[in-house]
Amino acid sequence: MASAVCVLLCVCVRACVSFNVDTSFPLLKTGGDQTFFGLSVALHEDLRTGEHMLLVGAPLAGAEPGVPANRTGGVYSCPISEGQSAECSRMKLLDPGDLIEDMWLGVSVVSQAPPGGRVLVSLPSVFFGI
Ligand SMILES: *[C@@H]1O[C@H](CO)[C@@H](O)[C@H](O)[C@H]1NC(C)=O
Repeated sequence: MASAVCVLLCVCVRACVSFNVDTSFPLLKTGGDQTFFGLSVALHEDLRTGEHMLLVGAPLAGAEPGVPANRTGGVYSCPISEGQSAECSRMKLLDPGDLIEDMWLGVSVVSQAPPGGRVLVSLPSVFFGI
């Protein structure tokens, strides 16, 4: 019995070990508190400019000003660089009429990458191809 518990413990502990990819030069991007900024992340290439960027979902982000909702979630485009000019900018994905309170926009973000270069952003029940 004791050895079975020990084996189970070893398997569980081994499965929970974490690591950092690059601890010397980390690239930190931050979003608003309690927005789940970073729940989804995709590396994307803009095929027109050849520029690479991080697309970051924040499904509990507040709505943009002037829309008839308080909290919609959002997706941010972040340059892969540091410094003040490397701020993330919110992507305009929807018309104000499409917004629904607590729609969890950005719960999942996927980049098609070349050759198409498209991005798929999903909500729990709706999918938008951009
Ligand atoms: C936004 O929040 C206010 C204050 O809580 C509330 O009265 C209003 O109904 C909310 N709007 C929507 C679209 O849910």
